[in-house]
Amino acid sequence: MQVTEKECPVITLDGPGGAGKGTVSLKVAETLGWHLLDSGALYRLVGLAAEHHGVALDNEASLGVLAQHLDVQFLADSAAGGVCVVLEGEDVTQTLRTERVGKLASLVAALPQVREALLMRQRAFCEPPGLVCDGRDMGTVVFPQAPLKIFLTASADERARRRFEQLREKGITASLSDLKNDIMERDARDMQRATAPLKPAEDALQLDTTCMSITEVVDLILAEASRRGLVS
Ligand code: DC
Repeated sequence: MQVTEKECPVITLDGPGGAGKGTVSLKVAETLGWHLLDSGALYRLVGLAAEHHGVALDNEASLGVLAQHLDVQFLADSAAGGVCVVLEGEDVTQTLRTERVGKLASLVAALPQVREALLMRQRAFCEPPGLVCDGRDMGTVVFPQAPLKIFLTASADERARRRFEQLREKGITASLSDLKNDIMERDARDMQRATAPLKPAEDALQLDTTCMSITEVVDLILAEASRRGLVS
């Protein structure tokens, strides 16, 4: 059943990797008590499933079928930071976040058949009382009618530094310059692809978070949602 815009208002957060979309979306969704869609996780799942099934990353037709039939469950799990992701019966929550899987995701995300296969799956997340979604094309392609669209950016240096800190907290050593190169390579691929490239929607509110704290960004979005009458 199709839900109306009034029944399920949508806040979209798009932007390059490391701009803070994931953390900000989670906090906004938690504060409002709305559903959350981490669309990048779906592309990461397709990349991982391709690896599991030995499907070549340039075999668009087979990757499209894989994306369409993805056997995945998102289970609430406060210990895993909100959600536990199960792919074909296997807990892949940690694996999904690795740089390796991020790269696989960026490659499969450039394929129109994969994007098409994931479109309906993403729209199905729209359930009352509302949805907060993060990705690259949430405001431009998946939810173009969303009443509040945010485009988050931050400098590549700052995004690499944030990633470096995240990894360090997990006890993983990484090279700051390698992380920055990876970030810039992925930005270029996401922005230059022909289908649903990373770009702000015309009516998006653009926020540069380089010098902003997570709390400042979250508060600004909540204030804007309230100003637009999306929350009581
Ligand atoms: O946000 P993330 O790092 O989990 O995304 C992984 C990759 O998936 C990233 O390179 C871009 C791609 N992606 C996309 O093309 N469209 C989306 N809506 C979300 C992610």
